[in-house]
Amino acid sequence: MEEKPHSPHVLIFPFPVQGHINPMLQLAQHLSLAGLYITFLNSGHNHKRLLRYTDIQARFAQYPGFHFKTVSDGLPDAHPRTIDRGTEIFDSLNSSSRKALEEMLIDLRPPVSCIIGDPILGFVSDVAKELKIPLIHFYIASACSFWTSLCTPDVIEAGELPLKGYEDLDSLITTVPGMETFLRGRDLPSFCRPNDINDPIFQHFMDWILKSSETNALILNTFEDLEAPILSHIRTKYPKIYAIGPLDLHLQTKLSSSNSIMPSQSSNSLWEVDKSCMAWLDRQPPQSVVYVSFGSLMMLTREQFMEFWYGLVNSKQRFLWVIRPDSVATDEGERPRELEEGTKERGYIVSWAPQEEVLAHKSVGGFMTHSGWNSTIESLVARVPMICWPCLFDQQVNSRFVSEVWKIGVDMKDVCDRKIVEKMIYEVMVERREEFVKSIDRMAMLAKMCVSDGGSSSRNLNHLVEDLRLMVLEE
Ligand code: UDX
Repeated sequence: MEEKPHSPHVLIFPFPVQGHINPMLQLAQHLSLAGLYITFLNSGHNHKRLLRYTDIQARFAQYPGFHFKTVSDGLPDAHPRTIDRGTEIFDSLNSSSRKALEEMLIDLRPPVSCIIGDPILGFVSDVAKELKIPLIHFYIASACSFWTSLCTPDVIEAGELPLKGYEDLDSLITTVPGMETFLRGRDLPSFCRPNDINDPIFQHFMDWILKSSETNALILNTFEDLEAPILSHIRTKYPKIYAIGPLDLHLQTKLSSSNSIMPSQSSNSLWEVDKSCMAWLDRQPPQSVVYVSFGSLMMLTREQFMEFWYGLVNSKQRFLWVIRPDSVATDEGERPRELEEGTKERGYIVSWAPQEEVLAHKSVGGFMTHSGWNSTIESLVARVPMICWPCLFDQQVNSRFVSEVWKIGVDMKDVCDRKIVEKMIYEVMVERREEFVKSIDRMAMLAKMCVSDGGSSSRNLNHLVEDLRLMVLEE
């Protein structure tokens, strides 16, 4: 006789990088708070780092139905797992984790009643289909970038892709409904840049778009008031959308209303957090510091690094800069004295910061960011206007929305020049400050309302939990 699960059991499997692990862990905590049985699957390599640098073990121990499991990513320990080796990571995961996932799903008790998967891990959809386990995709980035990606086949069909050359970068793309008046070639996801759409990364991207249509339910870390028009376009293809963000704000709100014990600042960091910058921030005047961080994957060439450094020092603003050890392609090279001195006077450098605490600090007045979605939404919640320098994936679209739609910052994409860095910092910190602060204050207030009791994100999360419970009854 078929064994009946006693309670809904959800397996959550993020793509093994920081920007995906963060929101997936936040979602896992939400579902644990709702009393669901959760298995969170990490790559063994990342799990070791999380155990070393965070309190995840203690944090999740308070949920009796929550368990971590690990799977090998198939790469040797010494592999750098940097984004320039991205295809190796994908291929290795595909060949080594698939079988382990299948075996785990067969063995887990109670039986897994739903998988919440990362749409970019196509093999998870295949396994879910084979084992007849319902699948919900959690696309951890913005609705606007998801919609742009979904429309890419139509953009190709209409002949607007591949881009023919540099002149095409500024032409409007007319085949993404809702974005006809402002989306340019240069704002499409980074994979669309190559002139040859047979490029392997582009092909991988197209595969996940096709696979993403294999489920009709989608979770997004956004909120209705921010992306309502785009969400209604996505609803034409995905009948069930759960917009439950901003996830971290939502979690803090839930935890404080449920009187749960929560350490004041929990991190999901894969790197050791250097908190010394908080004492430095305490000594700076209100809203005077530009926080600079390009996320967990971006790598700068030495030339780009020098242009940013000159731009920051020449801007005469104070700055806190995160420079990950693996983020600058540099031989040590020469370090001009004026830069060292300018940094000593007005700057502070760390290799990894407590980003959300930094953004919430009263001394921070601007965020120079790569427009990764976590950074964008964290900045919005903290009411810090942005200077965007996007490079990869969804970042190109996010930064266009930041500057043209939400009007909460400037977009510096495709330019890396010290004079422009200086000019953009001036725009955000001085010239257009009032305008940006006004819009971002309004959005942060809407975000707060969405995650409070009765708000749209809170209701959507309740629907998600109800639907996850129903899946067990429907089996
Ligand atoms: C990746 C992709 O690059 C991005 O385009 C996509 O939107 C999400 O996945 P990543 O580049 O790492 O993410 O950027 P981001 O989404 O901003 O996530 C970085 C996370 O690391 C943020 O939650 C941020 O708070 C955290 N962080 C970053 C720190 O805690 N400390 C730091 O010093 C820097």
